[in-house]
Amino acid sequence: MTRKIATFFLKTYGCQMNELDSEVMVGLLKRRGLVQSFDESSADMLIFNTCSVRDLAERKVMGKLGMLCRSRTDRPIIGITGCMASSKKASLFSKLPYLDFVLGTNNIGDLNAVLDDVLSGKEHSIAADDVFHDDVDFRLASREDKVKAYVSIIRGCNNFCSYCIVPYTRGREVSRPIEDIITECTHLASEGYKEITLLGQNVNSYGKDQASWNIRFHDLLYSLEKIPGIERIRFMTSHPKDITRELMEAVRDIPKLCEFIHFPIQAGSNRVLKKMNRKYTAEEYLEKIAMFREIVPNVALGTDIIVGFPTETDEEFMMTYDVMEKVRYDMAFLFAYSTRKGTAAERWDDDIVREVKDERLQKLIALQNDICSQQRQKILGDTVEVLVEEVNFRDATMLKGRTRCWKNTLFPGDKSLIGSVQDVKVHSYHHQTLLGEMCEARDPFDL
Ligand code: SAH
Ligand code: SF4
Ligand code: F3S
Repeated sequence: MTRKIATFFLKTYGCQMNELDSEVMVGLLKRRGLVQSFDESSADMLIFNTCSVRDLAERKVMGKLGMLCRSRTDRPIIGITGCMASSKKASLFSKLPYLDFVLGTNNIGDLNAVLDDVLSGKEHSIAADDVFHDDVDFRLASREDKVKAYVSIIRGCNNFCSYCIVPYTRGREVSRPIEDIITECTHLASEGYKEITLLGQNVNSYGKDQASWNIRFHDLLYSLEKIPGIERIRFMTSHPKDITRELMEAVRDIPKLCEFIHFPIQAGSNRVLKKMNRKYTAEEYLEKIAMFREIVPNVALGTDIIVGFPTETDEEFMMTYDVMEKVRYDMAFLFAYSTRKGTAAERWDDDIVREVKDERLQKLIALQNDICSQQRQKILGDTVEVLVEEVNFRDATMLKGRTRCWKNTLFPGDKSLIGSVQDVKVHSYHHQTLLGEMCEARDPFDL
């Protein structure tokens, strides 16, 4: 039986890499003439681009799919893509009998081929390879945002932190040729994009898998700086073991590079860090931060932290607390440990009970809230540089944008300023958002 479809709905879970992969998949489907729908109850095809990083992320999708299959009689085509597709592969078909296709993270370029299989009547279709084929035309990506864009520079991860599933869902590191990255960024600039965020699980590994290129991450940054029209460059994530002095100097010397760095420590105890296979000690981490702050005094830092790693004691948890107090991050993503099948940490008992994990998490959340509110107080009266992204959806007289350090900012202004960089004097804040007034307008066309 051949099937026909006209519309598709795509939902994304997980991180920025998945968001970018979704944008590419939407682009591929639109190119074949399908129309994107935002109503999952009526679309002809539903795609779930999934995340496996914690148990909750997986349970959410499985719960949703179970419900969907029961509630619809005119059954849509259903596909699972992303990290769960890569880690669970064909076993998903037995868990979810209505599932039509499975497409792993390394096969997004095969989406239309897999869909052709399904439409021509094949019961199940799957493409889930362990290695990324560098055959995806990222210029096809269909982006909702018209000012900021994600750009993939390296896929996969070779680090095998003992708790983490990502090396199993995304495969080994594969750097993207510098010419392709420059071509894509130039194309984005010609479409009016002003800010690019370079994506990789560990951007500092860029080029290391291709010794003959003789290119390191900071070299890439100096090349991208030259692209006219791109006003801001960000990147994530930096592994503390691999960050270099050259990169810190690039942040100091390249005006387009925003001085906000995501630099996850994960834990403050050396015993726990060793068990996590992070390959640095808390002292080495703090030394790198001291070096960074010496080179770029106004650098803002973000982190990820896991509490309740197997065998973590109260004292060891307090070492994490102390690091957070010392470093005073601008942003912190805080997680309770969740055992992942197939990782090295799976062999250890998940022995920190839920209540203790929650208690530790709450302590860190309270500390971080406190630090952030003190930081906001300090910004009052300062002038910050904001890239104007859109009109505020609640009040059309207000513009919305982000500072170089990723702080959401609202101020009165005209929509003709979207895409321009403006100086805003901060007078107050509402929750996390800074509120201000624009200083004398910079000419939007004189970037
Ligand atoms: N490549 C990035 C992180 C990717 S995963 C890096 O190395 O920083 C995002 C975050 O999820 C991790 O930094 C970690 O804090 C968290 N995480 C990963 N696996 C986890 C697990 N099993 N349980 C809880 N949190 C986890
Ligand atoms: Fe996971 Fe570690 Fe790789 Fe980050 S560096 S993706 S935490 S294995
Ligand atoms: Fe990202 Fe989740 Fe995969 S965090 S890399 S989508 S496991």
